[in-house]
Amino acid sequence: MSDNKKIIMEVSNLKKHFNVGKNAVLKAVDDVSFIIREGETLGLVGESGCGKTTCGRTAIGMYNKTEGQVLYKGKDVHSLKGKEKKAFSKEVQIIFQDPYASLNPRMTVSDIIAEGIDIHGLVANSKERIEKVNELLSLVGLNKEHASRFVHEFSGGQRQRIGIARALAVEPNFIMCDEPISALDVSIQAQVVNLLIKLQREMGLTYLFIAHDLSMVKHISDRVAVMYLGTMAELTTSGELYKNPLHPYTQALLSAIPIPDPKIERTRKRIMLEGDVPSPINPPEGCRFRGRCKYAKDICKEQRPILKEVAPGHFVACHLY
Ligand SMILES: Nc1ncnc2c1ncn2[C@@H]1O[C@H](COP(=O)(O)OP(=O)(O)O)[C@@H](O)[C@H]1O
Ligand SMILES: [Mg+2]
Repeated sequence: MSDNKKIIMEVSNLKKHFNVGKNAVLKAVDDVSFIIREGETLGLVGESGCGKTTCGRTAIGMYNKTEGQVLYKGKDVHSLKGKEKKAFSKEVQIIFQDPYASLNPRMTVSDIIAEGIDIHGLVANSKERIEKVNELLSLVGLNKEHASRFVHEFSGGQRQRIGIARALAVEPNFIMCDEPISALDVSIQAQVVNLLIKLQREMGLTYLFIAHDLSMVKHISDRVAVMYLGTMAELTTSGELYKNPLHPYTQALLSAIPIPDPKIERTRKRIMLEGDVPSPINPPEGCRFRGRCKYAKDICKEQRPILKEVAPGHFVACHLY
């Protein structure tokens, strides 16, 4: 992915806080910045609860922001109105984590897939609608006999294909894929990821690809952003992140991925993370990772590390650098 590709989304100092009781503020996303280029896949990884879904949903305007700014093709996502808002809601789609909860069990597959087509008036008549749905089914590896069925008849992998077809139905440019494979059997995860990669190539899609571990993300992402407790720990190209992880948290996440070569796997040292993820409610001052970091120093208690570019295109938020 070359650097001269146009920036499609620019997220600057984004915050999303939830009020969760008297004097309690849950800082789900707390000052996060990144860009996404056209046609690129940006992976967003981190442990469960670190704020990936909230970050993605706030970035695409599904949630109001607390602070900061998100520009999509130069326009402020949170102040879109009227026609522009409708155009944005067609251009930007989501594939959800749970293909069981995200598809309406009382609707036929064709009605699920065509919902956006109907809302945006993308076909002239019911014949065209049927053709379009059939085309989409075949695009995701299903067939037209599936159109009149209900989702309970399908496996998890097939349901996720239906979810993908629904997202593609409105011919989007940008898709937030929110852990699209983590609810699926390991045996079919690669199939769904390969489908997403193929569709991206054919249609020039841009992906924000969320995952809780780094194994599949390496395969699909051009660049990877690592989140920890509402903040960005590290961001760089996927090759660089795997070769040269700088943040102690990234190093720990990477060491948890099994290596296929048993010789290397046997001699390798796992970095165990000590302690638990702290609560995002009134989170600690300074570096949020310090309680689990073996390199933590005094400064880590006092100052929150900012995301710095320490090598071209390699950003890290850590006082070690
Ligand atoms: N609507 C909400 N109200 C209050 N807290 C929320 C809400 N949505 C998410 N959170 C909290 O925000 C934090 C980040 O959640 P989430 O973005 O879902 O993380 P992830 O996707 O990384 O697992 C969690 O502590 C979660 O409990
Ligand atoms: Mg999530």
